[in-house]
Amino acid sequence: MENINRRQFVVNSSMAVGGLIGASAIAFGVMPAKFAYTSDIKFVESSCASGKKKILVAYESYCGTTSEVAQSIANVFCKQGAKVDVRHIENVKTVSSYDAVVIGSAVKSSSWYPNAIEFIKVNQVQLKQIPVVYFLTCLALYFDTDEAKNVAKSYFNPVLKAVPEIKPKEMQAFGGVLDYSKLNMVYKMVMKSKMKKKGVPEGDFRDFNKIESWAENTAWPLLTTV
Ligand SMILES: Cc1cc2nc3c(=O)[nH]c(=O)nc-3n(C[C@H](O)[C@H](O)[C@H](O)COP(=O)(O)O)c2cc1C
Repeated sequence: MENINRRQFVVNSSMAVGGLIGASAIAFGVMPAKFAYTSDIKFVESSCASGKKKILVAYESYCGTTSEVAQSIANVFCKQGAKVDVRHIENVKTVSSYDAVVIGSAVKSSSWYPNAIEFIKVNQVQLKQIPVVYFLTCLALYFDTDEAKNVAKSYFNPVLKAVPEIKPKEMQAFGGVLDYSKLNMVYKMVMKSKMKKKGVPEGDFRDFNKIESWAENTAWPLLTTV
C-alpha cells in the first residue's frame, strides 16, 4: 500500500512539474507556436496558376487569421495575372522557383514570430536576388494613432536586425484579431490581462479593403517591376 502511494506520488509530481514546465515554456516563448495551438485553428494554403510571374505569399501564424490576410493578398495577385502559392512557412521547402516573395507574420511580444525570422535567414541567398515585401498583423493597430502606427512599424525591427542583407521593398502592418477562444489556457490568461490594461477588446480588426488596396497599388507594382 505504502509502495503504491509512493509511486502515485512520484507520477503525480512528475505530471505537475511537466505541466508547469510546458506552460512556462509556452508563456516565455521557448516552445514553438504550434504547441500552443488549440484544435480548431485552420491555416489557409492555396495555389492559383494564371500568368507568368510566380509569387510566393508565405506566412507565420498561430491562430490562423494571418493566413487569411496572406490569402487576400494572393487573390489580388492572382487577379493581376500571376501564379501564386500561399503557404504556411513550415511548408515551404525552397523559394528558388519564385520571381518574388511576400512574407508575413503575426506579432508576438513585439516581433515577428522567430520561425518567420529564421525563414528569411535560411533563404537569404535566394531572397537577395528577387523583390521581397514584408507584412505583419498585430493588435497595436486597434488604435488609429500615429503612436500606434510607429509601434506597429517597430515590430519589423527584429527581422531587419537579424537579416540586414535583405532589404524589403515595402513593409506594411495590418490590424489583427483577438479571439480568446483560439488561445490556449496560458496565452488566454496572459493576453486577457495585457489587453485589459491596454483597452483592446476581443474582435477582428483586419480591414480587407485596405489589405487588398495595398496589395494591388503598392505591393504588386513593387514585386513585378524590375
Ligand atoms: C501571445 C500573444 C502575444 C502577442 N503580442 C503582441 C504584441 O506584442 N503586439 C501586438 O500588437 N500584438 C500582439 N499580439 C496580437 C497578435 O499579433 C494578433 O492577434 C494577430 O492578429 C494574431 O494573428 P494569428 O491569428 O495569425 O496568430 C499577440 C498575440 C498573442 C496571442
